[in-house]
Amino acid sequence: MKTEWYKKAIVYQIYPFSYCDANNDGWGDIEGIISKLDYIRELGATAIWFSPLYQSPDKDYGYDISDYRAIDEKFGSMADFERLLNECHKRDLKVIMDMVVNHTSTDHPWFKAAMSSPDSPYRDYYIIRKGRRKRGKLLPPTNWVSSFTGSAWARIENTDEYYLHLFCKEQADLNWDNPRVRQEIVDILNFWLEKGVDGFRFDVFNVSSKVHPLKDDKGLFNFLKGEKYFVDGPHMHEYLRELNEKALSHFDSYTVGESYHPSPENAREYVRAENRELDTIFNFAHLDADNALGLKFIPKRFDLKQFKRGLFAPQLAHHGEGWNTLVLENHDTPRSVSRFSINTRKFRYEASTMLATLTFLGFGIPFIYMGQEIGMTNSRFRHMDELKDPVSHFVYDLLTAHFMPKNLAFRMVRFGARDHARVPMQWDDSTNAGFNHGAKPWQCMNPNYREINVKKDLDSDRSIYRYYQKLLSIKKNHPAAIYGRVDEYAHDDRRIVAYSREYEGNRLFVVGNFSKRPVQYRLPGWTKYAETLLENYGGFSAESGTVTLRPYEAAVLEVKR
Ligand code: NOJ
Repeated sequence: MKTEWYKKAIVYQIYPFSYCDANNDGWGDIEGIISKLDYIRELGATAIWFSPLYQSPDKDYGYDISDYRAIDEKFGSMADFERLLNECHKRDLKVIMDMVVNHTSTDHPWFKAAMSSPDSPYRDYYIIRKGRRKRGKLLPPTNWVSSFTGSAWARIENTDEYYLHLFCKEQADLNWDNPRVRQEIVDILNFWLEKGVDGFRFDVFNVSSKVHPLKDDKGLFNFLKGEKYFVDGPHMHEYLRELNEKALSHFDSYTVGESYHPSPENAREYVRAENRELDTIFNFAHLDADNALGLKFIPKRFDLKQFKRGLFAPQLAHHGEGWNTLVLENHDTPRSVSRFSINTRKFRYEASTMLATLTFLGFGIPFIYMGQEIGMTNSRFRHMDELKDPVSHFVYDLLTAHFMPKNLAFRMVRFGARDHARVPMQWDDSTNAGFNHGAKPWQCMNPNYREINVKKDLDSDRSIYRYYQKLLSIKKNHPAAIYGRVDEYAHDDRRIVAYSREYEGNRLFVVGNFSKRPVQYRLPGWTKYAETLLENYGGFSAESGTVTLRPYEAAVLEVKR
């Protein structure tokens, strides 16, 4: 029986490496997470998405899985996980597991078996092809590029064959066209569902069906080579329905797919309720409003209109057909309050609260990334050695190999680095911000932790956490904020974001100034007698019709039927 609990959910994402290190070995762990569940519950979250906890050699920090049924030792044991699950459920927190099945680690027994003999049945679990000879030189089977830079093919030692990897070379793509592979995935999903988990976040799900025969992409842009042959591939919808039929539909589960540049048409199909594919997918288009060509390492002047287009298009497209998600940060993005031309030093409280207000009251499930609720900022990395993410290094190597001066390459990498989100959570101003008891953390701390931490935030009368509590309570308790139709206002304005949500005659109006200067805004007439439910400055009143919104000011108004 599907209760569709997810429609009212507020999801909090934990990157386990960096949340809380109870055994003081430098890595976050399950015990540490358990000690913080009340904090998460009190924030107002109703579900937690855990970035991978499975056994992994960590070439891509957990996103390269070598055993889908084991918890990685550094996080704890299966018994610890079961306790975590139980402790979450005791607090009415649902548990969403990451599911990374486009690829496995090359340490996975399937891959090892595949490599052990050309006749192994596991060969067909992966995508293996002969290289091409050109003027006596062996070349990869196609010109596809990995989204982590370089060829998407790695040569198999002592052979003229290659395996496909759309990410790191230690993340070998599974061959979803092999029914045995799909059955393995079904079995893995059932294993976790039977244990009691409540749902999955499918990693880069929409690249799992490839167009055969594999061939060169003649497109112009090198960094996109291959995409048209693996994004939203020919069997993607069918394979998702199969997972549903054989696993997901037998449980009261929820799914969110992390999609890789899906077309709007496919995005709609993935979440259209009647299709029974996924409940939701992530939308990140608005997060490209401060980078060029969708390349997160190339800064550009922030474009609020682009941000709004990206934020609202899926809300409008999915409303009435399926469900939606609302995201500002995750473990792959820099911190939102350090982006979008925001002067973080001056306006950290105002901008953090404005961003959350404008985003989370839209149509969809709010996803909050750990630390976002206290306005954690980007780190002040000084050199490449401080960056642990392999992608930061791949990009740096690529840029410097093309004669870019090292300091410029470093600045570009730092601009888009995933490392910003992966520094340890800042709990207090003690050594290592209370992440642990003094052992060197796997990733260096953000030096600003004495200024920005949970304890200090909670003690402050401008607490971002407490503002989030109020905001999330509006989201949960006002049906208009969950089910309401979205109407955008100030569509062409380059500084204001405004929209209404209407449900059964009750209306919310959400408005915010996305700039560092005061802006005058004429409110729609119907808000004249509205009640102010939430504001991040104080003294907001809709009565006069025209308001002067202070820098990053935001307010939520309600008009009852
Ligand atoms: C998306 C994940 O969010 C990211 O962290 C990972 O590197 C890639 N998928 C590859 O699994």
